Amino acid sequence: MNSVELIPAGSQYRTPVFERELSPPLEAQESYFVVTPEEERAFQAIVHDDKKLKDLISLLPKAELHNHLEGAVRPSTVLEIAKRDGIPIPESTVEEVAKATSMQPGDDLLVFLQKIRTYAFVFDKKEDISRVTYETVEDAARQNVKYLELRFNPLKQKEKYVTVEEFIESALAGARKAEEDLGVKTRLIVSINRSYPVEAAWRVARAAIKYEDEGVVGMDLAADEINYPPELFADVFKFARENGVHVTIHAGEAAGPESVRKAIELCGAERIGHGVRSQEDPSLEAILAERKIPLELCPTSNLQTGAVPSLGSYPLKHYLNLGIPVTLNTDDSQIFLTTLNDEYAKMARSGLSLSELLQVDAHGLNVAFLPESEKRELRPEFLQGFRNVLQAVHHYGLKPLNP
Ligand code: ADE
Ligand code: ZN
Repeated sequence: MNSVELIPAGSQYRTPVFERELSPPLEAQESYFVVTPEEERAFQAIVHDDKKLKDLISLLPKAELHNHLEGAVRPSTVLEIAKRDGIPIPESTVEEVAKATSMQPGDDLLVFLQKIRTYAFVFDKKEDISRVTYETVEDAARQNVKYLELRFNPLKQKEKYVTVEEFIESALAGARKAEEDLGVKTRLIVSINRSYPVEAAWRVARAAIKYEDEGVVGMDLAADEINYPPELFADVFKFARENGVHVTIHAGEAAGPESVRKAIELCGAERIGHGVRSQEDPSLEAILAERKIPLELCPTSNLQTGAVPSLGSYPLKHYLNLGIPVTLNTDDSQIFLTTLNDEYAKMARSGLSLSELLQVDAHGLNVAFLPESEKRELRPEFLQGFRNVLQAVHHYGLKPLNP
């Protein structure tokens, strides 16, 4: 039997620097979900059938924790806003807009960081910020995402058009409306561009604290990891953590394991954005496993920025086997031309068992920046989704399950 841990045993998610234990799980929820060897075998046959695999994955309720608003804007919205405001852009069709920001062979993180800025004008107006936020949640809903943590840099326009507070309030308004309309619980993470001066990071951290009760749950450090190591921002992140803001940091993507280690030890990162290069240092892997520090893995992004050479050797299963709570994410769906369902399908095809796939999904909810009581409210829906997936496996490959 292969069992999926629905509630982390002992809720041992400990924060390495500040040792603040996250709230323990409440009792009396089902803790395990079992997949039989027959079901695993049937799943391995389904994996080779694109349509069936897609159907199965779309049945899974999912949590997405690493999704940048800037990289999720629909090309159709870019075109509409450009046209409405008379902003001259060379592209005139949705396809051309999508192509202009898509990654090409040989591109790296620095090229990506230029591409993602191409249509920054969509963040000049409060109503547009609300709109793109709403649309991103809507797109997540189409992937059967039930919980979304959406991140963005509220300082990208240097407060020329909207203040940091106005940016956050506009995103919150869009997220709230989407949550009401679409039933996707949505929380926000403010992201700091590591090439900005530290004062800018303090500005964003104070704003994060101000909006903590409104739906801002965390703070992130993003962009050029090669030239701007995490320790430059250690005091800011410590301040945020001490004031109840959760911390996730991009590390181990363009730079190696040392960057992950510093994000954890010096900045108090509770989760790591990517961390895909952690495998280069087994002693770091041991820390991640022991402290149960989650990795927000983004396979297609990693392939396209050159963080990994191929998806054939992608280390998700390796980390999972070590007991590191890995999650699956899109990063920037419109730049990398992917969806969350695609990410799950790619990992399924690369040799994950069904129970491993479900475990990755369960991790997404378990390591969310939400109080345990709110995770608990979402778990029955996830559990029902797991049951539906088993029903589908039986329908496709086995005898019907007994009702
Ligand atoms: N900003 C958006 N996506 C990013 C990534 N993958 N790495 C660093 N900064 C980012
Ligand atoms: Zn990212």
